Amino acid sequence: GRVAVLLGGWSAEREVSLKSGAAVHEALRRQGVDAVAIDADRNVLQTLSEDRFDRVFIALHGRGGEDGVVQAGLELLGLPYTGAGVLGSALAMDKLRSKWVWQGAGLPTPAFVAYESGLDLSAVTDALGLPVIVKPAREGSSIGMAKVDSPEQLSAACDLALRYDREIVIEQWIAGEEYTVSILDDQVLPAIRLETPRSFYDYAAKYQATDTRYHCPCGLPDDAMQTLEQLALAAFRAVDGCGWGRVDLMRDADGAFWLLEVNTIPGMTDHSLVPMAAKAAGMDFDELVLRILATTLP
Ligand code: DAL
Ligand code: MG
Repeated sequence: GRVAVLLGGWSAEREVSLKSGAAVHEALRRQGVDAVAIDADRNVLQTLSEDRFDRVFIALHGRGGEDGVVQAGLELLGLPYTGAGVLGSALAMDKLRSKWVWQGAGLPTPAFVAYESGLDLSAVTDALGLPVIVKPAREGSSIGMAKVDSPEQLSAACDLALRYDREIVIEQWIAGEEYTVSILDDQVLPAIRLETPRSFYDYAAKYQATDTRYHCPCGLPDDAMQTLEQLALAAFRAVDGCGWGRVDLMRDADGAFWLLEVNTIPGMTDHSLVPMAAKAAGMDFDELVLRILATTLP
């Protein structure tokens, strides 16, 4: 049947989504799928209902596309789509509520404070220590994020994050190694360890830098690998992830893992991590895209 690939959108991650969506669209065409790329604006449901599509591959990142809004529209149209449903999309987009859910489920996530106006910032640094990392609750690709090493930087970091969302998370900094676990059809793909000479894996390290290093196989011993994979799957299920996604975590100096976030529509650009993990599992990009598309089938 006919497949609509949704890309672009109106979030701060639009540029990333244009690349993800183009790569997905090309892969589907190469594989003989009748796929049409649609730049999703706020009339996207009208566009979809005017043309006859059987399924939708959502390659949108960030608010509007990855947060349940488009998913709800597709539910109304009765069109099967890739990835998490309305609840899972909304929950995973929201780093604050993801952390509350994980805490409730007994899953480890770094200590944090939810910002509110009038918050006593010195009490925050007393409680969390330094460094901390300040994040808009509902953003992606590290947009609006800043690491804070000294107390006087905290207020500016909060102001920056507040430009992107009215809710922000001030999170304890976990010194250690960064890992990401890709999930496809409820199975984990090989974990990747990320290394950047920058202060953290920020937008530039994700999409522009040539000095970001990706280790896959990640070099963990078997037992630690099992812990990592089980934790990633548990975190994904706790936020009601479905079909595919990617879980980002830290491993501290004592070897303990800490959940950072779940991405329900992870990047599919040539710098992206899920394609890298799939490749390590012997799956090329086209096959990966077809496998993700297949998760929409009953
Ligand atoms: N939010 C970006 C697209 C990612 O997680 O890959
Ligand atoms: Mg993200």
